[in-house]
Amino acid sequence: MFSSFGQLGEGLRATGYIADSIATTTVFLAAKLHKPVLLEGPTGSGKTQLAYAVAEAANTSVERLQCYEGINEEKAIGKFDEPLQRLCVELKSKSANVDWDSLRTELHSQQFFGAGPLLRALQCEKPCVLLIDELDKVDHAFEALLLELLSVWQLSIPKLGTIKARSIPFVVLTSNEERRIGDPLRRRSFYLRVEHPTAEREAEIVALRTPDSTHEFHAGMAGLAKALRGWSMEKPPSVSEILDLAQALKVLGSEQITPEMRDILLPLLAKTEADRRKLLLRDGFASLIFDAQQYSAEALRRSAA
Ligand SMILES: Nc1ncnc2c1ncn2[C@@H]1O[C@H](COP(=O)(O)OP(=O)(O)O)[C@@H](O)[C@H]1O
Ligand SMILES: [Mg+2]
Repeated sequence: MFSSFGQLGEGLRATGYIADSIATTTVFLAAKLHKPVLLEGPTGSGKTQLAYAVAEAANTSVERLQCYEGINEEKAIGKFDEPLQRLCVELKSKSANVDWDSLRTELHSQQFFGAGPLLRALQCEKPCVLLIDELDKVDHAFEALLLELLSVWQLSIPKLGTIKARSIPFVVLTSNEERRIGDPLRRRSFYLRVEHPTAEREAEIVALRTPDSTHEFHAGMAGLAKALRGWSMEKPPSVSEILDLAQALKVLGSEQITPEMRDILLPLLAKTEADRRKLLLRDGFASLIFDAQQYSAEALRRSAA
């Protein structure tokens, strides 16, 4: 998929994704060794986006299985198209000499099977990225279904048989840690923790989204993110929320956050009642801004060094 570690890093950056060197190495090795990558960490930290960025950098497509409670094999692998099968039987039964055995075989061939994302990923001519997103939403039984796919790159489907991979996809599993993913899947995967980025990296991410703003603005957003996350909030802001805030400030025509902006910005910064109260405390917001300024000055100093 990628000829070198450097090519991958540059490719990701060109898609607008800023990965640290550990993430880049892990993805590179996993792609080379045909290992799935299990990404775990808070929501909005860039797990799903990494899968799309890898696909774009490799110039390939994404097959995405969005997990949810109660998801079943049919959704993941696919199912026979029953109306089409019925239609075929009706048409064929009109002719005098029907060979029922061969008709039954035909009805259970891939022609009559509507493939789901797991099967489609195996059928790609060129290796694609298979994103199995938010795997923590499903139960252990469903995890077991993935084991065959990820160890021998094939799927056994009742009545259809065993389908082997035409190409081996690069598999990305993500989890927001609502439920613990079982050990058999962990054993087969490389494990990458996706945490909130460092202030320097977050400033770079913001810079990619608001390229016409100043360095100070980008570092300011990263500093505020770090300050908010250091505040033991009930729901600390994710990268995506910091990007929203940066866009909102652009709309407001402001490059700086001042204590007077508290009430306008509160709906963007505090997303639970407890967090709102915290920021509404006397001097709460002003001291947050003070911390943010310290962090952004540090980030600017380090990036200049
Ligand atoms: N490292 C990063 N580089 C660029 N953008 C990022 C990065 N991390 C997060 N983002 C932004 O945050 C948004 C949310 O990320 P997402 O992948 O949906 O999070 P998760 O799947 O972890 O909940 C992305 O669409 C992207 O805009
Ligand atoms: Mg996600």
